[in-house]
Amino acid sequence: MGEQVTINEVGLRDGLQIQPKFVSTEGKLELCRALVDAGVSMFEAASFVSPKAVPQMANAGEVYRALPDTNRIVYSALVLNEKGYDRAVEAGAKVVSMALASTDSMNRANINMSLEKATDVFSALTRRARDEGIGTRAYVSTATGCPYEGDVPVEVVVDLTAKMLDAGAERISIADTIGSANPAQCQRLFATLVEKWGADIFGAHLHDTRALALTNAWAALQEGIREFDSSVGGLGGCPFAPGAAGNLATEDLVFMLDESGYETGIDVAGLRKAVAVAERLIGQQLGGRITKWYVSQERKRAAAAAEAAE
Ligand code: COA
Ligand code: ZN
Repeated sequence: MGEQVTINEVGLRDGLQIQPKFVSTEGKLELCRALVDAGVSMFEAASFVSPKAVPQMANAGEVYRALPDTNRIVYSALVLNEKGYDRAVEAGAKVVSMALASTDSMNRANINMSLEKATDVFSALTRRARDEGIGTRAYVSTATGCPYEGDVPVEVVVDLTAKMLDAGAERISIADTIGSANPAQCQRLFATLVEKWGADIFGAHLHDTRALALTNAWAALQEGIREFDSSVGGLGGCPFAPGAAGNLATEDLVFMLDESGYETGIDVAGLRKAVAVAERLIGQQLGGRITKWYVSQERKRAAAAAEAAE
């Protein structure tokens, strides 16, 4: 059996948050069930943020309370302030994630806090979560480039990682929020982090704005990273980070890992069904880079089966 890689499906949160068409609770649950059927066992299922800031997440509590198979599947909830934390825990969240952006401007645009304030708020919430037996994940977001301040020095990412780990964060997801990273940069960044703390606590959260998400994932994989965030059909983007486009598509990542001998427990055929559900819900065509080829193979197989049946 190949080496295990964990996929954290973020379509229900990062994927949908920018979508203008509101998706009902039942719609989100249907998408979640389709992804579970495909083998997904880890999700970021919703964010408990102000519905004025992100209307799509207005039903986060309702969705969270009805998530399927909660004993087996790991779900996390994104929280960006104390109110969000309280709402998430009340809805049954057992793991919370927080997003600390690497620059002052991005934190201000996203959550109306300075970098210093955001670091303090997330550190305090992380400590509280640890005390209350809630699992904690921290994003260091815009870690490879900020839409307002440009390049982000590796030392800044190291410093913010250290602060969140000091506060008790169990995992750190390094996020290329706007898809500005390149593979050489990813390799350097993850090599530095892994040298300091080992690979096991890190995940990579990648966006495909410039078609480099898969190669960035491969670079992170080579540095030992075994957990990746991705989004069904490549849905996604941050409403507060200009230029942020879709996330790395789960089906592309699963396919690459499969072909390269890694195990994810997820099958691409099941993901294609989930993509179809997502397309119906948001009224747009979706699909990763693999789609065209994969559909042509499906057609070929169907034609061969029909011929054999004649
Ligand atoms: N859930 C629901 N409502 C919330 C909330 C939360 N977590 N946090 C704040 N609010 C409400 C307040 O109750 C208040 O409501 P009111 O106007 O009816 O009184 C309003 O939002 C403003 O609250 P305030 O504390 O002054 O927040 P703010 O204006 O400084 O905004 C955030 C801060 C974090 C609430 C807001 O920027 C936000 O939710 N951003 C979302 C960012 C995001 O999701 N980014 C993408 C993922 S990283
Ligand atoms: Zn993202």
